[in-house]
Amino acid sequence: MAESLTESAVKRLVVLVSGSGSNLQALLDAVAEMGPAAYGAEIVAVGADRDGIEGLARAERAGLPTFVCRVKDHESREAWDAALTEVVASHEPDLVVSAGFMKLLGKEFLARYGGRLINNHPALLPSFPGTHAVRDALAYGVKVTGCTVHLVDDGVDTGPIIAQAVVEIRDEDDEDALKERIKEVERRVLVDVVGRIARNGYRIEGRKVVIL
Ligand code: GRF
Repeated sequence: MAESLTESAVKRLVVLVSGSGSNLQALLDAVAEMGPAAYGAEIVAVGADRDGIEGLARAERAGLPTFVCRVKDHESREAWDAALTEVVASHEPDLVVSAGFMKLLGKEFLARYGGRLINNHPALLPSFPGTHAVRDALAYGVKVTGCTVHLVDDGVDTGPIIAQAVVEIRDEDDEDALKERIKEVERRVLVDVVGRIARNGYRIEGRKVVIL
């Protein structure tokens, strides 16, 4: 399947966050340093599933529109998903980046943004999916782990893989130390992948994603 991003030169990104937003910051810095035209994309809004997080503060400092869509403010998970889809759609994104967004996106969101929804995960998928990927990799005793940028489908971290990078595990690593080393790599990979996809487009062939 060929993906059809709009033909506009600068792609519109909505970034979803739940925490510190260091991946968001890396994207903000790349756009600021290179300029939207050279990077190929601009961030048009940042959304979260909770208030009071550094991710939203980073967006506000960058002068970007933000929104918060909390599950507990909605009657059901489906109603939350519909509301999130609507608020994201109001910013007319070409691509949505889930950068540390800690909620599974629902049917309506995926129907609208499936194939244009990018997530980063702190492990080499398909190993260690889910919310405790770094802890699980350490507990398993693997010697290398890393990060994965992938398209989101309706499973947990199961969508087609766009890019991966390896991080070696050191004997002295604890969860926090390893998490930080993975995040350094993951920020670089995310910035690179989003920029190349925005500038060049991409194609999905079954489970394979080819950046053009
Ligand atoms: C990243 O490690 C990402 O892989 C995971 O959550 C973390 C987000 O970090 N899903 P930050 O909020 O971008 O600093």
